[in-house]
Amino acid sequence: MKKLCLGTVGVLAVALLIASIALLAARVLEKAVDRQVQEEMILRNGSDTLKVWEEPPPPVYMQFFFFNVSNPEEILNGETPWVTEIGPYTYREERPRVNVHILDNGTRISFLSPKTYIFIPEKSVGNSEVDLIRTVNLPAVVAMEMTTTTGMHLPVEFLLLLYKEEMFSIHTVHEWLWGYKDKFLHAMHKINPTVDEEFGFFSKMNGTDDGEYVVLSGEQSYKNFTRIVEWRGKEKLDWWTSPTSNMINGTDGSSFHPLLDPEESIYIFASDFCRSLELIHETYVTVKGIPAYRYVPPESFYTSGAINKNNAGFCVPAGNCPGTGLLNVSTCRQGAPILISSPHFYQSDEKYIKDINGMYPSKEDHQTFLDINPMTGILVRACKRLQVNIYVRSFQDFIQTGSIKTLVFPVLYLNESVLLDDDSAEKLKAAMFESSLLTSIPYVIMVLGVVFGIVFVVLVCRPLRPKEEGSADERAPLIRTS
Ligand SMILES: *[C@@H]1O[C@H](CO)[C@@H](O)[C@H](O)[C@H]1NC(C)=O
Ligand SMILES: *[C@@H]1O[C@H](CO)[C@@H](O)[C@H](O)[C@H]1NC(C)=O
Ligand SMILES: *[C@@H]1O[C@H](CO)[C@@H](O)[C@H](O)[C@H]1NC(C)=O
Ligand SMILES: *[C@@H]1O[C@H](CO)[C@@H](O)[C@H](O)[C@H]1NC(C)=O
Ligand SMILES: *[C@@H]1O[C@H](CO)[C@@H](O)[C@H](O)[C@H]1NC(C)=O
Ligand SMILES: *[C@@H]1O[C@H](CO)[C@@H](O)[C@H](O)[C@H]1NC(C)=O
Ligand SMILES: *[C@@H]1O[C@H](CO)[C@@H](O)[C@H](O)[C@H]1NC(C)=O
Ligand SMILES: *[C@@H]1O[C@H](CO)[C@@H](O)[C@H](O)[C@H]1NC(C)=O
Repeated sequence: MKKLCLGTVGVLAVALLIASIALLAARVLEKAVDRQVQEEMILRNGSDTLKVWEEPPPPVYMQFFFFNVSNPEEILNGETPWVTEIGPYTYREERPRVNVHILDNGTRISFLSPKTYIFIPEKSVGNSEVDLIRTVNLPAVVAMEMTTTTGMHLPVEFLLLLYKEEMFSIHTVHEWLWGYKDKFLHAMHKINPTVDEEFGFFSKMNGTDDGEYVVLSGEQSYKNFTRIVEWRGKEKLDWWTSPTSNMINGTDGSSFHPLLDPEESIYIFASDFCRSLELIHETYVTVKGIPAYRYVPPESFYTSGAINKNNAGFCVPAGNCPGTGLLNVSTCRQGAPILISSPHFYQSDEKYIKDINGMYPSKEDHQTFLDINPMTGILVRACKRLQVNIYVRSFQDFIQTGSIKTLVFPVLYLNESVLLDDDSAEKLKAAMFESSLLTSIPYVIMVLGVVFGIVFVVLVCRPLRPKEEGSADERAPLIRTS
């Protein structure tokens, strides 16, 4: 009877240990969890995934910071500019996906993504309609640059003088961002109809979309979930310069590949940069109790095209490369002399920082990053930060430029951020807890196996004890009688 019991305990211990090792080795439960995640990564008509994708719940904020110029006369005399950062002016960005069409038996989805910007006074330093900012008069600079190819410097100079246009001008934050019309722009439009009558750095962007996207639904493979395959009818996305083949290709920035491998880069599509953006794994972070991988652009992202061949596309005309930290996006801004950089020239050539008084680059405030939960691929937090600069120089034919130094002049920078809302964070944490319970089952079984194993060993090693106790009982009467 005792032997049978002993044998059962032994067999049980071995069976439990083998079962737990088998479960761990075959990763059965992990695979079940992955399958469940993958099942969610398909855009199907009527599914929750599609609904969330159409109206993403986490609020996106766009913050603008301006550089207010305080010494315009001195700058025209060739002195170093002094600028003061003013901001944030915060807008909530609504970016639903509309005109959604399911194509090709559910394998592809086409849609538009119009963005609407709503001013949030509580999160801003002042009133965007009232606060005045002095910065480079971009329409005047564009008009002057235009004459280098058209040779119309006399009529342009006449109009600049007539409308008292100077190198620097003052407008409200709202006007600089969303557009204004004035007599000079109107007159320029008459001379050259390609010049817009309205100017603003983000003019006509409120409520408009940036063209039709076609993405894969994930039906064929969850790996292709929301992967962009077409933008504005361009099928072959030639901005996907791929240095590695095991990369995760561009998605539309709202969702990512599950089960991320920190060794692999991720690629997101960024129309501001006129190309896709490579991000590499930097550290591990925790956001609202959710573990995440932090991805940042590699140091080489802004490296001069003269050194980094991937940036050679920003050297226009060929061979004319801006220094490290700057991307010449002139061609995708209707020829305006605009260069993009990190805010305060973070990670740029020291030269650009020294050329302007008031630049204080810092990693914490000026870095672009994405925090992604590796298990689900859900984006938990992201900040995209970039600065708009104007290339200014002195023109002999125009008195407006005086003897200004050739400068990359910072105008404004933006901080576009998203943070997972509390509701979604709670849901994600609950799901992660459930799956961690599920995946810990093999370990529980293993612990049970070990416990039975110990019981077995203990029982085997002290087989005679019960008999000794028995003889003690027999001796008891003797003791009593003595
Ligand atoms: C989803 O199906 C319904 C009913 O069949 C249809 O009316 C709707 O247009 C479909 N939605 C999409 C995005 O195709
Ligand atoms: C859609 O599915 C049907 C039936 O399965 C098939 O005949 C057709 O070729 C498919 N169309 C596309 C575009 O894949
Ligand atoms: C953008 O458009 C919406 C609706 O048309 C409007 O409510 C909002 O104030 C506009 N935002 C800006 C910055 O003009
Ligand atoms: C920006 O500078 C101008 C000129 O010095 C000044 O009038 C204006 O008040 C400044 N703007 C803000 C928001 O401080
Ligand atoms: C979709 O994913 C599969 C499997 O990963 C891959 O072979 C295929 O090329 C992908 N399709 C496209 C259009 O990227
Ligand atoms: C990503 O795209 C590039 C270029 O389009 C392609 O060569 C590569 O195979 C793709 N990688 C994956 C993992 O789909
Ligand atoms: C930027 O590119 C344009 C052509 O698109 C070129 O004319 C201009 O010189 C470039 N600017 C700089 C600062 O390299
Ligand atoms: C950018 O936005 C994030 C999230 O709203 C905020 O934490 C951060 O301080 C902002 N950065 C700057 C430079 O204001």
